Amino acid sequence: MEYVTVARVEDIPQGQTRLVEVEQQPVLLIHESDGFYAVEGLCSHQNLPLEGGQVWRGVLDCPWHHFQYDIRTGENLYPQRVYPLDALPQLRSQVNPLKTYPVRIVNQEIQIQLIKKN
Ligand code: FES
Repeated sequence: MEYVTVARVEDIPQGQTRLVEVEQQPVLLIHESDGFYAVEGLCSHQNLPLEGGQVWRGVLDCPWHHFQYDIRTGENLYPQRVYPLDALPQLRSQVNPLKTYPVRIVNQEIQIQLIKKN
């Protein structure tokens, strides 16, 4: 599958995110200290947009109720860190990972591939 240009490097300062739509799919672009990342744009908790979420050391914090995701793998780190899932089985359906997408930079353009990586 081809890469699609979704923004320019200068559009997203380091430490910030931007929600874009690619082929009707919301995608969150993240400019972390070591490069750009792309994850699906809606939180697995209540399907709300992740735009405005803070990123710190590779972890994205959802601005709504603070689920946390590894931006490299999409793993949902919270509430797994907080609640014993065996004791709260109803949480399982909400503790889903985010899809992540391959990112490359070409001539200062941020390009993503909509193939699911995980
Ligand atoms: S919508 Fe993200 S944690 Fe609730």
